[in-house]
Amino acid sequence: MSVFRTLDVDEVLKRQESGELKRRLRGRDLVGFGVGIIIGTGIFTLAGVEAKNHAGPAVTLSFVIGAVVAGLAALCYAELASSVPTAGSAYTYAFATLGEVFAWIIGWDLLLEFALGAAVVSRGWSGYLANLMGLPQDLFGEDAVVNVGAVVIIAALTVVAVLGIRQSAMFTNTLVVVKVAVCVLVIAVGAFYVTAANLTPFVPPERPAESGASALHQPVVQAALGLEQSVYGLAGMLTAAAVVFFAYTGFEALANLGEETRKPSKDLRVGILGALGVCALLYIGVSLVLTGMVPFTEIDEGAPLAAAFGSVGQHWVSALISLGAVTGLTSVMMVELVTIGRIGYAMGRDGLLPRPLGTVHPRWGTPHRVTIGGAVLIALLAAFVPISELADMVSIGALSAMIIVAIAVPVLRRTRPDLRRPFRVPFSPVLPIVAALACLYLMLNLDVLTWLRFAAWLLLGLLIYVFYGRRHSRLAKRTPQQPVG
Ligand code: ALA
Repeated sequence: MSVFRTLDVDEVLKRQESGELKRRLRGRDLVGFGVGIIIGTGIFTLAGVEAKNHAGPAVTLSFVIGAVVAGLAALCYAELASSVPTAGSAYTYAFATLGEVFAWIIGWDLLLEFALGAAVVSRGWSGYLANLMGLPQDLFGEDAVVNVGAVVIIAALTVVAVLGIRQSAMFTNTLVVVKVAVCVLVIAVGAFYVTAANLTPFVPPERPAESGASALHQPVVQAALGLEQSVYGLAGMLTAAAVVFFAYTGFEALANLGEETRKPSKDLRVGILGALGVCALLYIGVSLVLTGMVPFTEIDEGAPLAAAFGSVGQHWVSALISLGAVTGLTSVMMVELVTIGRIGYAMGRDGLLPRPLGTVHPRWGTPHRVTIGGAVLIALLAAFVPISELADMVSIGALSAMIIVAIAVPVLRRTRPDLRRPFRVPFSPVLPIVAALACLYLMLNLDVLTWLRFAAWLLLGLLIYVFYGRRHSRLAKRTPQQPVG
């Protein structure tokens, strides 16, 4: 009973052809979905926080670094997603190439990424809503014992996610237009308030971190090399790049929609690369304008963009931005819920999670059980856990999944050279290896605490696999004469 047993790619392809999920999405729905899940707390909040605490105006370069790393990983995702379109994405690619135990770990890791992402964003959403509408902080703010706003929004969006993929797509597309318009507004109006003084020096000189800073919050790479904990300069810019990588996470979600896309070979590639490109341009513009408008030491950490416009007397822009943030965060949570459903569905279908989770509702055509189960967990986390620090967990989860995806590209080329590949990563295996190393490097710039928490989550996952998944896996029950199907 080998933990390295693999899924046969032909079976994956056959299964998705006769799949129960409905093929209802077009290329532009995918770009909409992508932008819908990508733009969120990363640009609305983290850009300001990281400029202030780690990078100064160089946070714009952090976003450039993030875009390059995400772009490299996206190329690898695009090749696998277009040749093996399947719900489950990285999880299924790993299953077909590296073996079951890697697949389980990656699926477990992706569930963490999207569940924590949704929980973090729901609390942020609740806070913005409180700001916009003057709602009580003790029910909607970060200090709330039970964050009612976060629970309500997760419950409402779960209903939409369960009702059907077309409804989710339409809902997301509408929200996306508003969100992109707000980013464009920030750039277009904010550009008039940019001063050269705020942007000089562009990379503030490195200096030691404050003496009270905990060793657990030091980037792993600095701790490993025995360096002093420092902020700003090149090191600060890299730390910020690892943290704001959160802003790019989510495009991988598109790769889960292969079984619901009309022409997966073309639409998935357009969707993944298109969405990422649009977001990278907006992020670079917004972060440049933000740091150009306000001296970085004076950036507001709660609502950086809204506060920047308030400080120059543009209160109507400020209000519009808050509105855009509330809207924008809604679509992030929406797509995250849809994604958890697809990954859980794929894992249940393979028997690594309890089988009933991998079933689709006969009328709505969505994996309703796993979506609702995931939503209950997210709501519990969001209600009780102050999760600001856990945003880094989303970055580490996404980056580690990307490493496995990058490795899977050359492996699958070797094991299945015959596979039809509508899109091919150029210069394989060099480019996939560079992509994997770049992701690893960013991970090393995350702090010690994030690594410890991530290790604990993986260990828990491994135990579940050893005691449940390994035995209940569909592959475990198969005899040589009895193909899976
Ligand atoms: N990329 C998403 C965000 O920035 C998760 O909120």
